[in-house]
Amino acid sequence: MKSYFTEQVNFFGNTNPLELIKEYGSPLYVYNESILRARCREMVNLVSYPNFKVNYSIKANSNLELLKIARQEGLVVDAISPGDVHVLFAAGFKPEDIFYISNNVSEEEMKFVIERDIIISIDSLSQLKQFGRLNPGGKVAIRFNPGVGAGHHEKVVTGGKKTKFGVNMDKVAEVKKILEEFNLTLIGINQHIGSLFMEIDPYLEGVKSVLSVAEQFDTLEFIDFGGGFGIPYRKQEGETRLNLQESGEKFNDLLTKWTTKYGKEIEFKIEPGRYIAGECGVLLGNVYTIKQNYDRTFVGTDLGFNVLARPVMYGSHHDIEVYKNGVLAKDNEEVVTVVGNICESGDIMAEQLSLPRADEGDILGVMNAGAYGYCMASTYNNRLRPAEVLLKEDGSSVLIRRRDTLEDLMRNFV
Ligand SMILES: Cc1ncc(COP(=O)(O)O)c(C=O)c1O
Repeated sequence: MKSYFTEQVNFFGNTNPLELIKEYGSPLYVYNESILRARCREMVNLVSYPNFKVNYSIKANSNLELLKIARQEGLVVDAISPGDVHVLFAAGFKPEDIFYISNNVSEEEMKFVIERDIIISIDSLSQLKQFGRLNPGGKVAIRFNPGVGAGHHEKVVTGGKKTKFGVNMDKVAEVKKILEEFNLTLIGINQHIGSLFMEIDPYLEGVKSVLSVAEQFDTLEFIDFGGGFGIPYRKQEGETRLNLQESGEKFNDLLTKWTTKYGKEIEFKIEPGRYIAGECGVLLGNVYTIKQNYDRTFVGTDLGFNVLARPVMYGSHHDIEVYKNGVLAKDNEEVVTVVGNICESGDIMAEQLSLPRADEGDILGVMNAGAYGYCMASTYNNRLRPAEVLLKEDGSSVLIRRRDTLEDLMRNFV
């Protein structure tokens, strides 16, 4: 028996996909506030070590209203670009709440961050020198590459010997020389080995190697171990969740033992993106046609890769639900290929997936679409990026980003 996520968690509350699409149009990102808050709290309570912060990685979803909720839940944030900083200030975050994770940035960009009193993580020796020239005597963090990586797809493995990120672990002596040259204080070390682990052990291997580098610096105020906490994308097949209880205990054990060795209690951070935002989002779209091309049945929708890029970009799986007149369908499964309306044969949301029979006029719901969904949406083919709606804890729905308009497409032409 398949399990249906939106039914299990009463995702739509007192509304339903048909009402939502009638009110806000299609395609539509729908977020559930209670799920978002629950995921924030699970991460905040992951370990009992007291000086522990959750640095939400806003690349996963930077909708202003979701950011405000994360802030209310006590999360701090990372930023990757001046645009991220701009949005974070608008959401009420302060410079001290933001950790800027830089990667190959210009002097101008570095200045932007320094002038706003935001701590910046540096990603290479030459960029450390650039920082030193711009901000002699300043406080800085460095991202190390532990030489190991992990992830669901080679494109999301960010640690390891073939990736562009971080400073090699054997460069500590050179780092110290540059710190000295510019009178810099290294207050933080960070890493991110990759995304979407469902067992904590590879992550903890990364934690151990970063801790071994950290021991070589006595000025640290924090260590950020990165994100990557996975969510079950195949819930319909019964995929289980990351075991937070066990993961938290193992993690906590490592941290407390290391702290005793280091001799002072510094701040430890994690940087989850997907775990915070992924499961609170469902992407809704219309079925416009069902067609048989040779031996395949195609379900033609408005869910192109301009709306959700993950399946095309990483070959990712998203569970899909079918709604008839707004009601979840469960019967008459058939194997279909779900495609969008982009002029590319690769525009495939799900290939040869068994779904309850879909008909023209039905609505599809793409599960776990809250992370790396809207933020990767584009206007390819001059399609308009969708609207975003929040289902609030009080049961009401509210528009939190309007759909693009044709005028938006013309805005930057000179
Ligand atoms: C530096 C950094 N931190 C955190 C994350 C968040 O990863 P995830 O969404 O898998 O938790 C990423 C994702 O690529 C990242 O590059």
